[in-house]
Amino acid sequence: MQVSKSLFFGGNWKAVMTPQMTRQFFQTFKAKIRQSGNTIADSGATIMIAPPSTSLIIASSEISTMMYKVGTASTLHANFLKLGVQDPWHRSGAYTGATTLEAAKELGVDYAVIGHSETREPWRIILNALKNVPGSPTDKEVLLSSLDAFILKELKIDSPKPASFRLALDAVINQLVIESLKVNIIPVICVGETLEERKAGQTNNVVLTQLNSALTGLSPQDIVKIIVAYEPVWAIGTGETATPEQAEEVHSSINDRLVKLTGNKDHEIPIIYGGSMNGKNVGELVSQPHISGGLIGGASLKPDVFMQLILNGIKAVS
Ligand code: PGA
Repeated sequence: MQVSKSLFFGGNWKAVMTPQMTRQFFQTFKAKIRQSGNTIADSGATIMIAPPSTSLIIASSEISTMMYKVGTASTLHANFLKLGVQDPWHRSGAYTGATTLEAAKELGVDYAVIGHSETREPWRIILNALKNVPGSPTDKEVLLSSLDAFILKELKIDSPKPASFRLALDAVINQLVIESLKVNIIPVICVGETLEERKAGQTNNVVLTQLNSALTGLSPQDIVKIIVAYEPVWAIGTGETATPEQAEEVHSSINDRLVKLTGNKDHEIPIIYGGSMNGKNVGELVSQPHISGGLIGGASLKPDVFMQLILNGIKAVS
């Protein structure tokens, strides 16, 4: 099968699936993969599942034993099926609730979802609260930037022993990206604007600022290893999807920035879309020149729904 580009579909399960649900999901999902024959492998697509940490070990064993057979060929390992970790932390130690990159790597994780808007949210709330503090706009700007600097100092993010709490500031996300690459886990870096930011015409500025911060200090050789997920915050879990044109506009400027940073060709780094992607809208989205797949929440939880979305996506680029 000839496809115009290799797609990446990531299932971001957030905190939804229990270990038992994970096992059940894979039973059906693996059967669906077998039914689809060589469609996925031939298309060059990658499918990633990022379950909650409590399901990583089960998902890992399901994925490593996923075999399929096409025609008379001997059984093949489905190496297009990959494991992801959500919101990892880069150091072991006194970080209650965290899942380390080291532990994830031991379980066969290849991808890490980093900087998702749900993890950026606490910081966004703090910034918004401060915007409402009385004072002139300049006073507030000064206050906000000094707070940012103060928290970063307290976090000691790049020291051998960062502080014992986590807050997804841009500089923290950058550190997670750097450390993921060190252990050969590919960061799926999420960027995206809120509705207020979109209405204020700040979409590109917000997204490119997040991207630049996430990639600070990385060499072009490292940047080409990443995946960027454009996820407009207002489209996540809301059933409201960015139109293909709205998404393409942002993907195209992310692509321009990546080309500038790496000197590489267009399309070299996958830029995927996230925010209420489903089996109906996937075709139009991935048909856009700079959209190479999706990061999918709700529609990745049911094996038949997720598989249909993947197959529809592949069909649209075939
Ligand atoms: P959604 O979530 O598909 O449920 O909108 C996407 C995401 O948050 O990654």
